[in-house]
Amino acid sequence: MTVHFIGAGPGAADLITLRGRDLMARCPVCLYAGSLIPRELLAHCPPGARIINTAPLSLEQIMEEIGAAEARGEDVARLHSGDLSVWSAMGEQLRRLRALGIAYTVTPGVPSFAAAAATLGAELTLPGLCQSVVLTRTSGRATAMPEGENLAAFAATGAVLAIHLSIHVAGKVQSELLPHYGADCPAAIVWRASWPDETVVRTTVGELARAVAASMERTALILVGRSLQAEDFAESRLYAADYDRRYRPLGREPRFPAPGAEMDTATDRPLPEGRA
Ligand SMILES: C[S@@+](CC[C@H](N)C(=O)[O-])C[C@H]1O[C@@H](n2cnc3c(N)ncnc32)[C@H](O)[C@@H]1O
Repeated sequence: MTVHFIGAGPGAADLITLRGRDLMARCPVCLYAGSLIPRELLAHCPPGARIINTAPLSLEQIMEEIGAAEARGEDVARLHSGDLSVWSAMGEQLRRLRALGIAYTVTPGVPSFAAAAATLGAELTLPGLCQSVVLTRTSGRATAMPEGENLAAFAATGAVLAIHLSIHVAGKVQSELLPHYGADCPAAIVWRASWPDETVVRTTVGELARAVAASMERTALILVGRSLQAEDFAESRLYAADYDRRYRPLGREPRFPAPGAEMDTATDRPLPEGRA
């Protein structure tokens, strides 16, 4: 018996991986994390599956369901929104499964920050502008931020910030970011990225709090960074016509050898044709 943790994606029912979908179809039990999982996804469960919304359950009750499935010898599909590597509460479940000797697998999903960036049509890492993305949040009722992990510290790097679980404190976010990014730095709010009622507001750090509509509760991401609206950035070297690379060797002495080419041991480069 195995518990399959599956990242269910950001909301659109077709943004689950094929592997996740196929695992769902094989599991007679499905535990899904309530509010952020689209109901259409549950259609992938096999007929007669035991399908349980875990939103109102405690961790103990979830483990009881898993224990009961194990006693019946039934595999479990365990769905969490987005990807499992961030804010999924998977870690504590895995720890209990390890202690109990129950097997598990982990299948990644599309994280909400990626869905929001797709909605914005934005590459977050643009050459010369931003090369880091920080996935973060602010302190919540249930989870305090560890010492040193605060918006000001991340903002000081100038990285793109994808701020989760914080739409209700947009004013605080704005005032912590202002000294670092400046009022004119592009920002965006993406509410329910990839859901049918997805809403996008493009704004600036200086206008961030004002841009939050009363209807934008909970499931929203705040993205901040120069790459969100930039047109004046360098082109990536990867596709530059004069860039010598493994898949497009250039010149008489390319950096990477063609398969079977003889190497010059002095320079550790392939010998030019004719000198081998
Ligand atoms: C408990 S976390 C889950 C994160 C998830 N594991 C992921 O990979 O994105 C929930 C927070 O993620 C963000 N979020 C999740 N789904 C979203 C979506 N479809 N659109 C915008 N933000 C979303 C919101 O900030 C929300 O408060």
